[in-house]
Amino acid sequence: MTDITVRTFRPTDLPVLRQITVDSFSGVALEQMLEERFGQWNERSWKARKADHIDDDCASNPDGVFLAVRGDQILGYITTRVDRHNSRGRIPNMAVTEEARGLGLGRRLINHALGYFRDQGLHVAVIETMASNAVGQHLYPSCGFEEVARQVHYAMKL
Ligand SMILES: CC(C)(COP(=O)(O)OP(=O)(O)OC[C@H]1O[C@@H](n2cnc3c(N)ncnc32)[C@H](O)[C@@H]1OP(=O)(O)O)[C@@H](O)C(=O)NCCC(=O)NCCS
Repeated sequence: MTDITVRTFRPTDLPVLRQITVDSFSGVALEQMLEERFGQWNERSWKARKADHIDDDCASNPDGVFLAVRGDQILGYITTRVDRHNSRGRIPNMAVTEEARGLGLGRRLINHALGYFRDQGLHVAVIETMASNAVGQHLYPSCGFEEVARQVHYAMKL
């Protein structure tokens, strides 16, 4: 753990973040559930769509994307969005490589993001998780988040 540091995103990191994303989100991604229900469309897999979310996060707030690294190796990441007008920070995505899980990196990345939000003077931080994501439902409350509401996702084929 001591040789692992947290640093800010660089544009050259993006392909690795996309790869960690597609390797990590099986079983917890809404995009995968849509594909399981409706099949593939537009010749784009759920993995391609999920990886696009990371492109959007990195384009929208690159200074608020943080990576856990050991030397040149990226072990995980967290993305953030900042709504200054409403003094609200959001964590849309995070993932840690399978080999590096359970070492506390997820918690460390969340605490880093919360420190970033506090430095920005924000009033509230939000994060969501799927009901099927047992790790999220353990980790987020243990980092200080309180459950506020549950959401239901609906979709239909057109
Ligand atoms: C969520 C994720 C980032 C956590 O990364 P991590 O580095 O393993 O996280 P940590 O080691 O800091 O903490 C994991 C916690 O979950 C707990 N945990 C692990 N598996 C669990 C399970 N099946 N059910 C409940 N809790 C579980 C661990 O015991 C640990 O809690 P503790 O610190 O109180 O002991 C990682 O699991 C991941 O990449 N998952 C796939 C992508 C994902 O779900 N992203 C979040 C949704 S946006």
